[in-house]
Amino acid sequence: MFLGQNSNVSVPLVDGFGRVHKDLRISVTDRCNFRCIYCMPAEGLQWLPRHHLLTFEEIERIAALMVRRFGITSIRLTGGEPTVRANLEVLVEKLAALGVDLALTTNGATLGLLAHKFVNAGLHRINISLDSLRPDRFERLTRRNELHRVLDGIDTALAAGLNPVKINVVVVRGVNDDEIVDFARFGRARGAEVRFIEFMPLDADEVWSNNKVVPLAEIVDAVAKVFPLVSPLHSQSPAAVWHYADGQGSFGVIASVTHAFCGSCDRVRLTAEGMFRNCLFATDEHDLKALLRSGASDDVIVAAIAKAVSQKWAGHAINQTHFIRPARSMSQIGG
Ligand code: 5AD
Ligand code: SF4
Repeated sequence: MFLGQNSNVSVPLVDGFGRVHKDLRISVTDRCNFRCIYCMPAEGLQWLPRHHLLTFEEIERIAALMVRRFGITSIRLTGGEPTVRANLEVLVEKLAALGVDLALTTNGATLGLLAHKFVNAGLHRINISLDSLRPDRFERLTRRNELHRVLDGIDTALAAGLNPVKINVVVVRGVNDDEIVDFARFGRARGAEVRFIEFMPLDADEVWSNNKVVPLAEIVDAVAKVFPLVSPLHSQSPAAVWHYADGQGSFGVIASVTHAFCGSCDRVRLTAEGMFRNCLFATDEHDLKALLRSGASDDVIVAAIAKAVSQKWAGHAINQTHFIRPARSMSQIGG
């Protein structure tokens, strides 16, 4: 018998390594208004047909089951770019009503228009992805000339009261590693927590290689040379967080490559087309949409989720020779 079956009470969503899963990431679309070079090709993308996407009602059903039956406490909406899904605030409102800590990961370009709507619908926190503060470089990286819209989106998110507002910066050697200190300064000035992310191997035009990864230690050294830091560091998995000695905030590093946090991973994922994934790097997926659309009972869906999690592996093994890069990019899996 699988955990969670035949009951309405919450039982932990545990895998074979004893990891308890509390965090659900839901991708609501594979589409995006940007074309970041490490995520999407410039053109020729085949979007999922509309009827392949889960409806808001289907997403709500899975989310509610995860909360009620497995005690999931946090949900993050991702994409593609989640805000290109029409009326996303309607889904925000449905999920906020579940009483979870609700967050959104976005490229920020639409927040000038939408941030207040999301806050009114019950959104708590936001992560905005931004890899360069230089307009020309931003345009080369995203293939869009929209840095001004993202900066406006960050300001609007802060003004709307989203807290915290985090800025995700994927650091790629030779691409934007000369902007680490600029980003630290930017976060300090705005009251936003910058989180530097080590570049991970996913399928895309900017081909991953080990030497494009700027390791945690190098990122921290670069910041510390300019802004003294408090030691010891506070570790708040998956991001290690450093506070500035002058009390003006903090920054984080997500060292997925050099310090994999797989051992304490509490995340599971639902793709836009209703596939359940037990790891970002999983090579197999579990089709919940087929269950939803064939009239499966709650118990059957709950059992399928418990089984998928029970099969979760120990870790992604990026640094080992048997690592297999997923044949999907972040936009298709959902960050
Ligand atoms: N490595 C690290 N982060 C990535 N993202 C997308 N692709 C990669 C990658 N290969 C980030 C985006 C965004 C989040 C959803 O994932 O920049 O911040
Ligand atoms: Fe869009 Fe985010 Fe992918 Fe960039 S990284 S193309 S913003 S989904």
